[in-house]
Amino acid sequence: MRTRVLAGNWKMNFGPAEALAYFTELEKQLNARAPSAPPSQVAACRVIFPPAYALGPEIQKAAARAHVKLGAQNLHWEEKGAFTGELSGATLKSIGIEWVLIAHSERRQFFGETDETAAKRLSRALTLKLSVIYCVGETLAEREAGLTEAVLARQLDAFLSVLRGKLPAGPAILSLAYEPVWAIGTGKTATPDQAQQAHAFLRKKTAVSLGADDAGRLPLLYGGSVTAENAAALLAKSDIDGVLVGGASLKPDQFARILET
Ligand code: PGA
Repeated sequence: MRTRVLAGNWKMNFGPAEALAYFTELEKQLNARAPSAPPSQVAACRVIFPPAYALGPEIQKAAARAHVKLGAQNLHWEEKGAFTGELSGATLKSIGIEWVLIAHSERRQFFGETDETAAKRLSRALTLKLSVIYCVGETLAEREAGLTEAVLARQLDAFLSVLRGKLPAGPAILSLAYEPVWAIGTGKTATPDQAQQAHAFLRKKTAVSLGADDAGRLPLLYGGSVTAENAAALLAKSDIDGVLVGGASLKPDQFARILET
């Protein structure tokens, strides 16, 4: 059995006041719909990643009322020190944050994230028993050059090198998100078949390192122009266990519909 993870990445959008208003509205939207499972069962799997200044206790409480956890968009591999602009995982944990996003393609593209730095962040997150969404995905040029699997294999190797042959035990959830760069923020979603093909490849390759059982338990999320309209078709695929939603997660009504899916 795999955990479903339904996540929203706000990127550099919304401040604290907008975040509070958002969760109040999301709660209202969800209350207006019949819940498909008791909230306690679904809470761990619904996460929003706001900017760091919207991770405080008041916003955590508002999110909890909508059965959503908050996560940070990044963490550093050291606990503290001279790392301007970075976030300490231990401090995130101390303020009640249990989820982190690692190696998002925008970090890779614009902020020099490499497989090596991403792996160090993952290692830190696992030591702290934080739940993780770790992102991989090819660019359009790489896909057109027939390099999709080679790129995914390289990125996955960095992820797997940290695990040393075993999924970490415990309540924290470790998940992997396939986010083709050409589908992010472009409105060009991968077709369910394209996404399934990439996910099946990731699952197969993961099984070589972790064994079939652990690979079978690793939630694989798809991200890239997911909307309330296309989420169900993606989630219907056998290896797609969740979604990481950017633009559509900024609209409470859209995100409520995706959670309902
Ligand atoms: P998008 O972003 O849904 O706006 O394409 C997805 C992501 O970057 O995680």
